[in-house]
Amino acid sequence: MADRTKVTIQQLFEMKRRKEKISWLTAYDYPTALYMDRAGIEMILTGDSLGMVVLGYESTLPVTMDAMILHTQAVRRGAKTAFLVGDMPYMSYQPGVETAIRNAGRFMAEAGCDAIKLEGGVRVADKVKGIVDSGIPVVGHIGLTPQSSAQLGGFKVQGKDAETAKALVADARALEAAGAFAILLECVPTKVSRLIMENVSSIIFGIGAGDVCDGQLLISHDILGLFECFTPKFVKRYAEIGKTVQDACAAYHDDVKKCRFPGPEHAFTIAESELKKITT
Ligand code: KIV
Repeated sequence: MADRTKVTIQQLFEMKRRKEKISWLTAYDYPTALYMDRAGIEMILTGDSLGMVVLGYESTLPVTMDAMILHTQAVRRGAKTAFLVGDMPYMSYQPGVETAIRNAGRFMAEAGCDAIKLEGGVRVADKVKGIVDSGIPVVGHIGLTPQSSAQLGGFKVQGKDAETAKALVADARALEAAGAFAILLECVPTKVSRLIMENVSSIIFGIGAGDVCDGQLLISHDILGLFECFTPKFVKRYAEIGKTVQDACAAYHDDVKKCRFPGPEHAFTIAESELKKITT
């Protein structure tokens, strides 16, 4: 892959203008970010999905700001050119505008992010405005918002009737008015995504929101076969890394049991003359 310059918001808007689709994936560690950058992925999200796919929690709610910063820093070290978005975890912005600005600032100052993402539409517009007014680019996130899945009644497609679809359009408009340069739609019918695209000029990304969006996001552990608990309908699987890891570990286990590892090529030597000095 040829050397790329760092991806900027201006380049992302230029891609939207010329209808070039934007690729976006989640990453939580240095090596994955390195390989994604080499593969030409334009954007990386260090998502609070960290809690479920890396830390093994049942939801994203236990994820802390400190955990997000630690993982986002590792991703930044691996991804020098991709546009990096830090995901605001549960209760890092809900309590108030000042809390939201301070935590968004941590992603920029401590982890070298290019933008932050937070969940919600109309109800978080004041926080989005506060963060944007502080000079920090914001990506909104509406539709299925995992941090409020209890309120939404679980992990379900959103905007399936006229009333909720209209509310999604209102959410997108509120985010745009508050200054969000991009909006992520999660689990939304394609025709509702199109309606939103027609009503706002922010860059529209989809995860389970159809092919009409300006760009697509997926969770890397889903596409790489590293997360088994459930696979949403919108996921396309590109590799079976989990199986590869399991097979490799089983082969190592077998080698150790049968004394096939380590071989002489994995061991260190000492000169006979030196050995004699200590065995006298
Ligand atoms: O945390 C995350 O990875 C996300 C996606 C589910 C969109 O927010």
